[in-house]
Amino acid sequence: MKILVTGGAGFIGSNYIFYMLDKYPNYKVVCLDALTYAGNLSTLKSIMNYPNFSFCKGDITDKRCVYELFEKEKFDIVINFAAESHVDRSIEDSSIFITTNIIGTQVLMDACRSYEVKRFHQVSTDEVYGDLPLDRPNLLFTEHYPLKPSSPYAASKASADLLVLSYCRTHKLPATISRCSNNYGPYQFPEKLIPFMISKALEDKKLPIYGDGMNVRDWIHVKDHCKAIDKIIKKGKVGEIYNVGSGNERSNLEVVRFILKQLNKPESLISYVNDRPGHDLRYATDSSKVESLGYKAHTSFENGIKETIDWYVENDSWIENILSGKYKISNIYNKTR
Ligand SMILES: NC(=O)c1ccc[n+]([C@@H]2O[C@H](COP(=O)([O-])OP(=O)(O)OC[C@H]3O[C@@H](n4cnc5c(N)ncnc54)[C@H](O)[C@@H]3O)[C@@H](O)[C@H]2O)c1
Repeated sequence: MKILVTGGAGFIGSNYIFYMLDKYPNYKVVCLDALTYAGNLSTLKSIMNYPNFSFCKGDITDKRCVYELFEKEKFDIVINFAAESHVDRSIEDSSIFITTNIIGTQVLMDACRSYEVKRFHQVSTDEVYGDLPLDRPNLLFTEHYPLKPSSPYAASKASADLLVLSYCRTHKLPATISRCSNNYGPYQFPEKLIPFMISKALEDKKLPIYGDGMNVRDWIHVKDHCKAIDKIIKKGKVGEIYNVGSGNERSNLEVVRFILKQLNKPESLISYVNDRPGHDLRYATDSSKVESLGYKAHTSFENGIKETIDWYVENDSWIENILSGKYKISNIYNKTR
């Protein structure tokens, strides 16, 4: 089995590669990543010399590069993690989000059609649904919930999802989509809430929280997300969307307080800043459809976050490498193996 993982030098893609190489030692995994600011080749250094892993630096919007890789490797499965993923950056300038997240998906799907790939999996997000009110705790996103993205990032992901569904219907592309809630775990770029707050707390710096900190997210450990994708590819039905959550709803303020407590830091480090424009109030996912495939998220928030904090403390050089910008030097790697 040969798998292409796009965006595998980023947070979830790298965790997925580790998960797959560990679970299926006979699979060959190829990572295609453009190494944008969010890609970090040093994350993959422990597997760089594995005979069943190879890395290719390239852009999913670059048709020539993508087709050359498909021609050479003849993939069975393609999993698209590659994306511009940071909401705040999409508010600043959405153009690269439209290019990568929509056109990149189209280029990959056309390559899948040309090379008769057996499964294309699009890694999407629950943010395509917009948000839920805070005062209706029983209301959850199902796969039929209307698409109402709030940020340009979420709109670009929703657009890509619609394109995937159209390829399923019109071209009979064997594709599936997963829409996952907020992930946390090792190797997450420190602009995202949890690693950002951990790195600030470790340096005794202020922890800026948007608005009143009451925005709620359903936090899932990245390994549970990886397991869900594996399950969907094995047991999921082509043309279907699967929501993936863990039922671990926490407000941003609760998350930040938990981090400070674990690190023995005072709550006086919290500083409230102006809210993000269009900030979604609450995300909460109904995962019963993916659970009907035999999947269940196993990591409790308390255990997962403790383990994650320990990981960032023990791997402070990984964060330091990013904060100092040194990781960009190790990213100067041009070779396709
Ligand atoms: N982080 C979350 O909580 C979350 C939740 C649900 C879904 N998702 C989705 O999961 C996927 C991965 O998210 P992440 O948090 O790991 O993102 P990330 O920003 O950490 O990583 C993205 C990776 O994609 C690469 N990339 C960007 N543009 C590219 C291009 N044009 N060609 C090739 N590679 C490119 C980057 O170099 C980086 O390695 C995204 O599609 C995101 O929408 C993320």
